[in-house]
Amino acid sequence: MSEAPSKSIETRTIVVTGGADGIGRAVVLLCAARRDNVAILDKNAEAAKKTAAEAMKQGAKCALSLACDVSSEKQIEKAFEIVSNKIGAPYGLFTGAGIDLGGLVHELPAATWRRVLDTNLTGTFFACKHAIRKMRHAGVPGSIVCASSPTGFVALAAGASGAYSASKGAISSLVRCMAIDYAPYGIRVNAVVPGATETRLMWSNVPAKSIPHMRKILSKEIPLGRLAQPQEPARTVAWLLSEESSYVTGSHFICDGGILAKASISV
Ligand SMILES: NC(=O)c1ccc[n+]([C@@H]2O[C@H](COP(=O)([O-])OP(=O)(O)OC[C@H]3O[C@@H](n4cnc5c(N)ncnc54)[C@H](O)[C@@H]3O)[C@@H](O)[C@H]2O)c1
Repeated sequence: MSEAPSKSIETRTIVVTGGADGIGRAVVLLCAARRDNVAILDKNAEAAKKTAAEAMKQGAKCALSLACDVSSEKQIEKAFEIVSNKIGAPYGLFTGAGIDLGGLVHELPAATWRRVLDTNLTGTFFACKHAIRKMRHAGVPGSIVCASSPTGFVALAAGASGAYSASKGAISSLVRCMAIDYAPYGIRVNAVVPGATETRLMWSNVPAKSIPHMRKILSKEIPLGRLAQPQEPARTVAWLLSEESSYVTGSHFICDGGILAKASISV
């Protein structure tokens, strides 16, 4: 018995949306350390540039930073064109670009709902669409990892997370559909489910002065007793973006310190 034949890949190109900061940035630096080419697509051009420079120091063969809003198909399509021409067709994609704007449904402005869905869900769709086109055109296998969340499976006890949770639940469904559709081409699609991770997004709905107190409360509620550092879910992503995970597709990798394993009622 042998493994499925595939064209050999000498240097992999890994594209990371939202790669300027947080979990995406940690993925970029881990891939750089194993000498992949990395491309950072982020709306924060300055931060993306800095992360690209750091990636070169970590050992990336090439590191490209592109200012790009994932909710614009035009910008995403152009970015994938540039990446393919400059550093090669993508072998891997991590869709990390995301925002979290809270609010109760009966008060939520339609514009807020759309912004969350356009960034998180439609941005994931656009990035996957154009990555898959390039992968298929190049005829090489590939690996896509999308960022889901525990909120895609359960409602957060804190509440007021309708738009974000809906976007993440939909991303999880999209991952399963793409895994089936592209398995015949050797393109694997999985999701990472990070728990509470110390990033800007984590605290985006908490007033700055309440963060230390909230961190204490959360740490008590999380079975492992602390929040994650961005490198922790990023290591799961880096594994999924490598051939080490060659038989894994359509899966969700939960890296949440035990949140989803726990029922919150104290019987
Ligand atoms: N941090 C957590 O606790 C947590 C938990 C579960 C899931 N996640 C998911 O992980 C992913 C990464 O989150 P993070 O915590 O690292 O966030 P972060 O805020 O640290 O980083 C997000 C990055 O996305 C970029 N971005 C935002 N909107 C964009 C757009 N329209 N176009 C291009 N780039 C855009 C930002 O500039 C930033 O660099 C997100 O999808 C998030 O929903 C995070």
